[in-house]
Amino acid sequence: MDNLDTVIAAFANRLRLAHHVAVLTGAGISAESGIPTFRDAQTGLWSHFDPEELASPAGFARNPTLVWRWYAERRVKACAAQPNPAHYALAKLDKHVPRLTLITQNIDGLHQRAGSRNVIELHGSLHRARCMADGSLHTTWDYAEELPHCPDCGALLRPDVVWFGEMLPQTALEKAWAATLDCDIFMSIGTSGVVEPAASLPRIALSRNATVLILNLEQQTAARPPLFTINGKAGEILPRIVKMAFPV
Ligand code: OAD
Repeated sequence: MDNLDTVIAAFANRLRLAHHVAVLTGAGISAESGIPTFRDAQTGLWSHFDPEELASPAGFARNPTLVWRWYAERRVKACAAQPNPAHYALAKLDKHVPRLTLITQNIDGLHQRAGSRNVIELHGSLHRARCMADGSLHTTWDYAEELPHCPDCGALLRPDVVWFGEMLPQTALEKAWAATLDCDIFMSIGTSGVVEPAASLPRIALSRNATVLILNLEQQTAARPPLFTINGKAGEILPRIVKMAFPV
């Protein structure tokens, strides 16, 4: 099965009959919104810094102002960006299938802005900060402050994102595993699948007899159902799949 139209039609047929769709997204789904991936983002001023300096507990302990400057810039860029047709296609799919679990490795909040509900954020969010003293979460703080402090207790805040060397949030991870074990369709969109758990989840879904779609820009070896692979842009391919499965 190698013709793109045939692959899309065959996958859409299965999607139409799905009971529970699990979707895992990565940096690639936001690429068409102009959000650079972590490494791409390290251009200009930031190219001089080691990722560990900008995104690790040790880096934050050494220079919290530098780390906050980096995240403040990323948050402003994410706010200025718009969801793209791939984000909207997933929000539309959510309305058509009996159950959809959306798991993302992205921290930009674009799925929620496109209308997706109950997004499982494996790597946290640019739009949340966490109090260093008591772990409380905050969605608003004084953005003008170079080094923001907790509005409740005055302790230092940190970005509520997963840094190098940190564990993924337990509850989010458990929900992602549960959905992977339960779903009958699993879609991996815009993730290279080299970092866990993105590396394992599609394989586990396949082993549980789910239909699996891998969609990214990488040249992939031909696959046969129940595994579907598409080498293309999420913003072009996903709307086609969803429209074919659910024309209205
Ligand atoms: P990567 O940068 O590893 O991979 C991006 C993937 O998106 C690649 O497979 C590309 O082919 C694909 N891609 C790029 N543009 C695309 C497009 N328009 N349509 C479809 N696919 C496209 O990003 P992630 O897999 O998200 O973790 O990386 C996972 C994690 O590794 C990140 O969240 C980050 C990093 O360490 C943390 O920061 C904790």
